[in-house]
Amino acid sequence: MGKTSRWTSDELRRVFLEFFRERGHPVLPPSPLAPQGDPTLLFTSAGMVQFKPYYVAVGPIPHRRAATVQPCLRGSDLENVGVTSRHHTFFEMLGNFSFGDYFKEEAIAWAWEFSTEVIGLSRDRLWISVFEEDDETARIWERGVGVDPARIVRLGAKDNFWGPAGGSGPCGPCSELYVDLGPERGCGLPTCAVGCDCDRYLEYWNLVFPQFNQDPDGNRTDLPNRGVDTGMGLERLAQILQEVPSNYDTDLFTPILEEVRSFARGVDPAEGEALTASRIVADHARALVFAFHEGIQPGNEGRGYVLRRILRRAVLRARVLGVEEPFLDRIGSRVTEVMSGAYPELLDTRERVAATIRAEEERFRRTLEQGLEIFQKTVAGLRGGKGAVLPGEEIFRLYDTYGFPAELTEEMARAEGIEPDRAGFEKAMEEARGRSRWEGGGGERGEAEDLPDLESTFVGYERREAETRVAAILRDGVRLDGLGEGEEGTIVLDESPFYGESGGQVGDQGRLEPGGGGDSLFTVRDTRRSRDDKALLAGRAERPLRAGEPVRAVVDAERRAAIARNHTATHLLHGALREVLGDHVRQSGSLVAPDRLRFDFVHYERTGDRELARIEALVNRKVQEDLSVRIETVSFAEARRRGATALFGEKYGETVRLVEVEGYSRELCGGIHVGRTGQIGPFLIVSEEAVGSGVRRIEALTGAGAYRRIREDRDLLERAAGVVRSTPEELPERVEALQERVRRLEKELLEARKSGAGDRTADLLAGATPVGDLRVIAAIVPEADPSVLKDIVDRFQEKGTSLVAVLGTRTGDKAFVVGMVSRDVAGKRLSAGDLIREVSARIGGRGGGKPTFAQGGGGEPDHLEEALAAVPEMVRRAAQGG
Ligand code: SER
Repeated sequence: MGKTSRWTSDELRRVFLEFFRERGHPVLPPSPLAPQGDPTLLFTSAGMVQFKPYYVAVGPIPHRRAATVQPCLRGSDLENVGVTSRHHTFFEMLGNFSFGDYFKEEAIAWAWEFSTEVIGLSRDRLWISVFEEDDETARIWERGVGVDPARIVRLGAKDNFWGPAGGSGPCGPCSELYVDLGPERGCGLPTCAVGCDCDRYLEYWNLVFPQFNQDPDGNRTDLPNRGVDTGMGLERLAQILQEVPSNYDTDLFTPILEEVRSFARGVDPAEGEALTASRIVADHARALVFAFHEGIQPGNEGRGYVLRRILRRAVLRARVLGVEEPFLDRIGSRVTEVMSGAYPELLDTRERVAATIRAEEERFRRTLEQGLEIFQKTVAGLRGGKGAVLPGEEIFRLYDTYGFPAELTEEMARAEGIEPDRAGFEKAMEEARGRSRWEGGGGERGEAEDLPDLESTFVGYERREAETRVAAILRDGVRLDGLGEGEEGTIVLDESPFYGESGGQVGDQGRLEPGGGGDSLFTVRDTRRSRDDKALLAGRAERPLRAGEPVRAVVDAERRAAIARNHTATHLLHGALREVLGDHVRQSGSLVAPDRLRFDFVHYERTGDRELARIEALVNRKVQEDLSVRIETVSFAEARRRGATALFGEKYGETVRLVEVEGYSRELCGGIHVGRTGQIGPFLIVSEEAVGSGVRRIEALTGAGAYRRIREDRDLLERAAGVVRSTPEELPERVEALQERVRRLEKELLEARKSGAGDRTADLLAGATPVGDLRVIAAIVPEADPSVLKDIVDRFQEKGTSLVAVLGTRTGDKAFVVGMVSRDVAGKRLSAGDLIREVSARIGGRGGGKPTFAQGGGGEPDHLEEALAAVPEMVRRAAQGG
């Protein structure tokens, strides 16, 4: 049943998942935007991405069905974003999946039921497309569901054969559901029909039937687990059900657009180019928030570059809104608020995300004006010429010096009717790489260039020392002949036993000695890699050093051994995590340092203490079994055949290095390892925490580090035991006994106070003032808490007749008062409530209660004494009916 009020996007996510949960689909968490273990994709672009392995798996898989809401990022539609009513860089996909379980019939029936009965779309507005060769699907729509054949349209492979995502993997025919938004939304052309690019027929749900596995060369074989992969765009669904003209008018976007518009100066942000710009900013801000939330950083390569482009595009487009100052961080914060209902974890990283956005925007704005000026001058010079072309060097100059992503410059050029010379840009880029500019020591790793003219061989797998030669000395992008004493620089060796930071393993340290040995010439502080994988030794010359000089390279062996221990332990930990938590655990990052190891992995919940203990024990067992660590170079295909775990983010060539812990783990890895697991020594997990949505981090110690930590913990325990005069073994019982004693003493104290109250009751009664036939007590009871005061007046009530009492006490900057009137007189002219109301007013507060009992308080304890002194007079007035 449809409902009458409009659906919010939060409700839509919920009813979708509920619908499929009721139909046997476990609701699974989404995968991160940076897909794990899938080197073919920069970003998660559809809900099925995390399930690619399930379709191709031959053995058992954790699930046969699943439903998700998947945040997606697609760079491919960038130029359409903001221009159309329905394209985005970032969007959410609602999906139900089957891996070798149900197939077309159920998928189609459920999609129809959800559309017509749950969200109440009218059948006469719905249209269906099917792949032209897929009679089976057409038949199910017609006979199984009862759709009018006139509303089933057959389309070619371009529209109705989906995938594979990332160029290889599962793919198959698909069938789409469309809503007719009415002729007024259409292009009006006589050819307008389902599949037309205009806004009339809006495709909102794609049902894919993955049937084939496509290899990177395009060959298709049958999938082991053919099944179902559906994707419904949440933004489009919201547009349809909220009955608004575009995705940007839904509740997902309007608050963000309002924020964007509040920054507009001198234009109407709801019109023309300014409207497009506002939408681009809103769309891009969503992409940035979700990506930065996960820890992806803007950069010059891969994902980081796509995000940099997205951010810079938003900044450039915002110029038509008259925005000249950094503002995207504010838009980002609004995104966080709007999306935090569905993704509360965004709130945890709000500040960090805003800071990342701000830093990147500021960085771009520093050179933006100059760059634009250059662009405009160049364009002005070219304009008018027929077939004008923007030279590749100009595009490169804007990229290199002013940070304009090439695609952006190209887009801007085309908008001016000028064709950009892409090939020329690529060439200029290549040349610049050849110039080997790398900032020795300092710069980001991604900035290290190729060094094509240098030969440098890595010999560090076999040796930790080498007699070799200084091939080159670099500093600030310049080749030097030599370094003077105390100078910093970067050295490339003919043969390097130094391991350059890679795959999470930190770079080696050590020293260069004169050929044949001797006092250190150069201290190696860190080793990195050029883009073409040559070891770059950053550090400081202890004595003058010249290019071409023979040297003896010596890696710090102890540090290296500690790194090797941690690296092999990382593989064991990975294996243990999969064994204990399940096969879905995938490595998403690691740090292998001499003093610790850090392992990030995809898992949707906190790892419990018991599980952590099991994981730790398992790793230690593998250490004690003293398994051999075998390293082999094999073909990639062979490695996959042997079931090796490949990691995302690594480039794998024809042949790969396979690191195998005898009978326990196989990983592709270029790192340094111990020969036998026994060398690792004790393994100790020291922390487990969340680092992003669905990503957990474990830190652990091995070898001497673990031993030291155990020793420290033991010292701590002994000290703690000493303080309570116990032994570590008896400490828990001792602490428990002490706590018990504290509890008992507290109780006794309370009782003592109460009996003290008894004594005070007598004293106070003795000091009562007679007022007519009444006895009136008005006094401050020092160091009494409110419960004691109540206790005392209760006793008055038990004992006394013709008695009126008001007691006060102060605690810090507040005063508290309690009053009673004995039952025989209460309510006959005299009421405790009235008395306390008046007393409380005099101490700057409020109070009240029943005729027999009342309490109150105020913030002016200095007036307490005076207020109490007035009580007898108040009673007199009241008793006399005054
Ligand atoms: N993978 C399909 C898509 O992206 C359906 O989820 O459209």
